[in-house]
Amino acid sequence: MPGNLHPLTAAALGRTDKERRLHQPGKVIWLYGLSGAGKSTLAVALEHRLAAENYVIQLLDGDSLRLGLNRDLGFGDKDRSENIRRVAEVAKLFAHAGIVTICSFITPFRAHRALAREIISPADLIEVHIAASYAVCAQRDPKGLYAKAAAGNLLGFTGRDSAFEPPTAAETTLILRTETSTPEESLLQLHTHVIAHLERR
Ligand code: ADX
Repeated sequence: MPGNLHPLTAAALGRTDKERRLHQPGKVIWLYGLSGAGKSTLAVALEHRLAAENYVIQLLDGDSLRLGLNRDLGFGDKDRSENIRRVAEVAKLFAHAGIVTICSFITPFRAHRALAREIISPADLIEVHIAASYAVCAQRDPKGLYAKAAAGNLLGFTGRDSAFEPPTAAETTLILRTETSTPEESLLQLHTHVIAHLERR
């Protein structure tokens, strides 16, 4: 630990007390995949569904955080790592406050997922790959970024000039293939998977 730092050890309420007050465990649900794969759509849909079931939730999304906390970061390898490191630290704080935290970030490198796992701890983390091919995402192109990248007006675009590394067999992850399922089907699969980890306190 760096010198001269003395982190608090005894908070007014411990994590378990907070979880009991909220009747839920703190967890981080981390959705990752290409831009346009459906992460934000599913994150928002899951938030609505869990809110209707009275869970207390916080949503953390790439575009939103990059307008605030992470506005000093770009899309080079180092900045993406720093983006994920900060987000994972924030998500950990929320989880320790007993909040179900939904993260939606491209998280393109295996090392990024490993970093998030290391910071949050595997026991608190539910990883979900929202999978769709580059071609399908480019066809959807909800933000017009694929067209921009194709025209040479967006450098370092994920899947084009910056890698997206799909999960290895060693990465414990749910895979939702949004090319072959409807949004409703994907949400049902996601919700069923997540709810199994959210036993009421
Ligand atoms: S990550 O790679 O660091 O995990 P993050 O999820 O925060 O990325 O941000 C991705 C969002 O930034 C995309 O959904 C898109 O709207 C926007 N964006 C802007 N430039 C790029 C780029 N070069 N590559 C990928 N996404 C980009």
